[in-house]
Amino acid sequence: MAAIENSKPHLVDSYGRVGRKLRLSVTDKCNFRCNFCMPETPEWIPNANVLSFEEIVQLVRILSDFGVDRVRLSGGEPLVRRDIENLVGMISRLEGIKKIGMTTNGFFLKEKAKALRASGLQSVTVSLHSLRRDRFSTVTSVDSHSRVLEGIKAAKDAGYDSVKLNCVIIRGYNDDEILDFASLAYNEGYNVRFIEYMPFDGRRNWGMGKVVSGEEMLSIIRSRFQIVPLEREKGSTALNFKFADGEGEFGIITSITRPFCSDCDRLRLTADGKLVPCLFDNHEYDLSKLLRGGASDEEISEFLRASVRLKAPGVESLLKASTSLKHVRPMYVTGG
Ligand code: 5AD
Ligand code: SF4
Repeated sequence: MAAIENSKPHLVDSYGRVGRKLRLSVTDKCNFRCNFCMPETPEWIPNANVLSFEEIVQLVRILSDFGVDRVRLSGGEPLVRRDIENLVGMISRLEGIKKIGMTTNGFFLKEKAKALRASGLQSVTVSLHSLRRDRFSTVTSVDSHSRVLEGIKAAKDAGYDSVKLNCVIIRGYNDDEILDFASLAYNEGYNVRFIEYMPFDGRRNWGMGKVVSGEEMLSIIRSRFQIVPLEREKGSTALNFKFADGEGEFGIITSITRPFCSDCDRLRLTADGKLVPCLFDNHEYDLSKLLRGGASDEEISEFLRASVRLKAPGVESLLKASTSLKHVRPMYVTGG
C-alpha cells in the first residue's frame, strides 16, 4: 500500500514545490465592501462563468488524485453562494480530501455555522479587522460588528476543530488595536492571525508606508505579553506563537516582509475556474474552457501539471522584477 501511496503523482513546480492545499474561491461576490479589498465599482464575474458545484467537484477530485488533500473555501464571501453547505458536503465526501475549512466575513455564520459543520466543514476563519463597532462599520461599509461577533460565537458553539480570527493590520487604521487583539487571544483562547497588509486592495491605496511589519507587531505584543514561538509547520504562511501563561495562540502572516515562498504548497482556483499558482503573480490558467469544452480528466490533469510547473518563485523575485506590486488582482477575486 505504502508503495502505491508514494508513487502517487504530484503537482510539482520548477522549484520542486509540491501543491497540497487548494484555496477555492466559490464566488467573487460579497455583502461587505471592505475598503482594503473591494474597488469602488467591482467588476463582477458574470454568473454564467461561475463554476457549478459539479464542475468544482470534478476539479477538486482531479486535484486530490495529485495529492492535494486540504481545501479552504473562500470568496468574495463564500456564504453568499446559495446552498454552499451542499458543496462542502460534496467535497468532504471525496476520498482524497482530509481537511476542509472556510474563510468568511462571519455575517451569515450565526445561521449557517451548524449546517456547515454537519456537512463536514472542519474549521472556520473569520475576518475581524477591528474590535470597535464604528471602525468596523466604516471599513466594511455595513453595520455588522455585533452580527459578526455572534457568528464567531455560533462557530465556537458548533464544535469546529478550530475557529480563527483574521486581522489585517493597516497603519493608521487599526495598528492601535494590536494589543486589544492579543488580549482577546490571551483572555478568550482565540487563535488570532495578524496579517500584513498586501497590495490586493481594489482601491489601490496600498503602499509600504501602510504595512506594519510582523517584527513591529511582535515587538508591540511582547511589550505586554510573554510569548513563546511554536514550530513552523512546513508550507505554513504564519509564524505561530503561544502565551507563556495564557490559553490562546496567535500567528503573524508576514506575506510582505518574510513571505515563506520557498516551501509554498498552495494553489488557488478562482470562481470562474482559473488556476492561480501564485497570489502575487498575474499568470492564471483557464480550466473552465477545458471543463466546458468537454476535455477528459487526463487532458485536464496534463493542463494542471503544465500550469503548476510555471508557478512563479514568489514575492521577493516579483518585488525585484517590478517597482510595484499593484498590478496584481484584488483579493475579492482570489480569496486570499
Ligand atoms: N491585505 C491582506 N489581507 C487582505 N484580506 C483582504 N484584503 C486584504 C489585503 N489587501 C484578507 C481578508 C480575509 C483574507 C482572505 O484576506 O480580510 O481575512
Ligand atoms: Fe468581502 Fe472579505 Fe473583501 Fe471584506 S475582505 S469585502 S468581507 S471579500
